[in-house]
Amino acid sequence: MEKDFDQATSKRMWGGRFSGDTDALVEVFGSSIEVDKRMALEDIEGSLAHASMLMAQNILSEQECDLICKGLQAIRDDIIAERFVWNTALEDVHMNIEHELTRRIGPIGGKLHTARSRNDQVSTDLRLWLRRASERIALELYTFRSELVKIAQSHLNVVMPGYTHLQVAQPVLFSHHIMAYYSMFSRDAERLSQAQKRMNVSPLGSCALAGTGFNIDRGETASKLGFDGVAMNSMDAVSDRDFVLDYLSVFSILMIHLSRLSEEFILWSSQEFGFISLPDSHATGSSIMPQKKNPDMCELIRGKAGRVCGNFMALLMTMKGLPLSYNKDMQEDKEGVFDAVDTVEMSLQIYSSMLSGIKVNADRMRQAAESGFSNATDLADYLSTKGMPFREAHEVVGRLVAICLSEGITLESLSIQQMQEVSPLIEDDIKDYLTLDAVVGARRSAGGTAPKEVKNQIAFAIKELSSEAEILTPAQTQSFVH
Ligand code: ARG
Repeated sequence: MEKDFDQATSKRMWGGRFSGDTDALVEVFGSSIEVDKRMALEDIEGSLAHASMLMAQNILSEQECDLICKGLQAIRDDIIAERFVWNTALEDVHMNIEHELTRRIGPIGGKLHTARSRNDQVSTDLRLWLRRASERIALELYTFRSELVKIAQSHLNVVMPGYTHLQVAQPVLFSHHIMAYYSMFSRDAERLSQAQKRMNVSPLGSCALAGTGFNIDRGETASKLGFDGVAMNSMDAVSDRDFVLDYLSVFSILMIHLSRLSEEFILWSSQEFGFISLPDSHATGSSIMPQKKNPDMCELIRGKAGRVCGNFMALLMTMKGLPLSYNKDMQEDKEGVFDAVDTVEMSLQIYSSMLSGIKVNADRMRQAAESGFSNATDLADYLSTKGMPFREAHEVVGRLVAICLSEGITLESLSIQQMQEVSPLIEDDIKDYLTLDAVVGARRSAGGTAPKEVKNQIAFAIKELSSEAEILTPAQTQSFVH
């Protein structure tokens, strides 16, 4: 039993078993307070729920519960006001708060830890913390996805080259390209809510690993804390860090999506492309080259994607090979996920404000789409509709492209005679098939790049976002404190 609160002799909560002091370096190395104090309010929230459940079960008296809860609330006020003094020797957030409680209210404070262990406590705190963090991120993601839709909507008919292998492939609408990212980030939002739902079971009451002999009510603490239910197996409940891995994987994929978008913005804002220009507010200059405008934010977010994936990998490796149930290795679970949350939150905020200031250079995009034979497939499609097998048509158009390359011209500027020499199936009407707008407009298959199809995507997105808005209210992001 963690019982030693005698200031004069030892600060440790397990003092009874030990006669020697902790090595100074061990104390520093073993302490997680600098990291886990971020969960202080969640720790208190969990303790308040635990204490009132203990009272309802007649494990604590009303007076004891009252004393404990008032003590915890006063500590919470001090933490919020940043008056609370954290002590490394007390190892972590749980022991700092419990120790302070007992210092303030006396040995009754020690009763709070009845039918509880730091093992179920830490897992509860982290789940509560992540739930709030993911609600904030869901909101950021929502805002960001709305900005994507806005930029697509306001540049609906801008034509740009679509690429495969970063070689010009077929012309597409810029809005189509942007809406591709909308789909990616919508999946991220869905994954985020799935991770949250899966995580949302209460470990509290699992105690150290095996449960407890006290007559507790796990359902009561679970529902007080907003969990959907209780973890079924006490050993799993204290050993499981899947929920952290789930979030880290969601965050890694999301950051990879941001990184890919960043890479495109970096390319598109280069002199060679000139497709977009980034707002001055989100670019930087060079200290030596006066002409420079660097896409630093995009680069940094592309870089930070590596950091978030690294956090994911680090925890995977930490968990690999751990026997059940709790092991101190698991104290390493928080730093990476806290860092990932901070990174994702800030990256999304930066992106949302950057998107609204981006200038799109429609002329440059169109010019680029006109070069590179982006209508070659359409000429082949034309021949196929005239009865030529597609493979043969592909070969014919390849020969025409070769002629254009040697003459330095585009397909649509070949004369009808030149085309008919290669295939007599080509007639005057071909010209109507080869303009960029015709090429784009022809791709009317569901999900294709024709304006009508992209409009459908946008309309769907707007509907999706407005139905999400009903669930996502800023109230979700309010502090957990009550
Ligand atoms: N600071 C610890 C952690 O984050 C809390 C759990 C400690 N449990 C224990 N049995 N030592 O993992």
